Amino acid sequence: MQEKINALRQEILAAMEKTESGRALYELKVKFQQELKTIMAGMKDLPKEEKPVFGKIVNEFKQSMEAAFEARAVVVKEKEMQQKYAAERIDISMPGKKYTAGALHPITLVKNELIDIFAGMGFKMFEGPEIETDYYNFTALNTPKDHPARDMQDTFYLAENLLLRTQTSAGQIRVMEKEAPPIKILSPGRVFRSDDDATHSPMFHQMEGLVVDKGITLCDLQGMLGEFARKMFTSSTKVRLRPSYFPFTEPSVEVDLSCSECGGKGCRLCKGTGWIEVLGAGMVNRHVLENCGVDPDEYTGFAFGMGIERIAMLKYGINNIKTLFENDIRFISQFED
Ligand code: PHE
Repeated sequence: MQEKINALRQEILAAMEKTESGRALYELKVKFQQELKTIMAGMKDLPKEEKPVFGKIVNEFKQSMEAAFEARAVVVKEKEMQQKYAAERIDISMPGKKYTAGALHPITLVKNELIDIFAGMGFKMFEGPEIETDYYNFTALNTPKDHPARDMQDTFYLAENLLLRTQTSAGQIRVMEKEAPPIKILSPGRVFRSDDDATHSPMFHQMEGLVVDKGITLCDLQGMLGEFARKMFTSSTKVRLRPSYFPFTEPSVEVDLSCSECGGKGCRLCKGTGWIEVLGAGMVNRHVLENCGVDPDEYTGFAFGMGIERIAMLKYGINNIKTLFENDIRFISQFED
């Protein structure tokens, strides 16, 4: 019996030395337990007086083997961890991949800023279509087919009565046709004119504003534009209105802001005048109100329209409008929110 146990001990210990995984060790343990069971089963055939001695031997064998299994389990686990670490090893000295985050285009930045400023004064947003009918872009805006003011905007016609809108003012009509006063809308969008030089592009962006209610006056327009100018440029920026002409406003004004570069003293940017022309505006012409079914004796309103590129050029000191459309990453990455 003792020999049998010794032989088994040697066999199991030798096999244990070779185990490399928790699973192999477990299988070996199961085998050992089965063998032990057989040995213990042989106990019943022993003479009574030998039983306690044998029991002690088996017990000691069982305990020592269990201790050996436990010790081996620690070694095997460590080996397994080492293997796992080796497999998952990463080289932390390798340079990381660099992702350059995109940024908003200066036109989008200025557009968003304009929206923020006017939304703060209670304006709602409206976006009209880029392909317009002759009616919305001109006729309803008091500029019928034979009107000389059509010459002010060189138009891309798509068909006799379809064109690429030349001004976001077309949206004024769409809004007034649908909504009854009080109206307070802001309408950004792309516009198109057959114009091309350092300060004009065939496609550019405008921001239109329209306010219609009882008792609206030119003073309201001036006050609101002052607020816009101070927020967009500097807190000391001043507004000046000059008489002008648009068929859809009466009176019409050209709006100048005091030069943000020199503070009004006169410099190259403002060509020595101290003022910079930034937008067109005026009181909505009563014919336009009538065209939209709004009673001009009850309601008055003002409208303004500005070029977003122009504001961006003034704000960031850009002197050629083309740089805004070339999308040279070295140029557009200079602008941040
Ligand atoms: N639509 C005019 C333009 O493009 C600007 C404007 C808008 C003028 C609203 C008056 C009122 O030149």
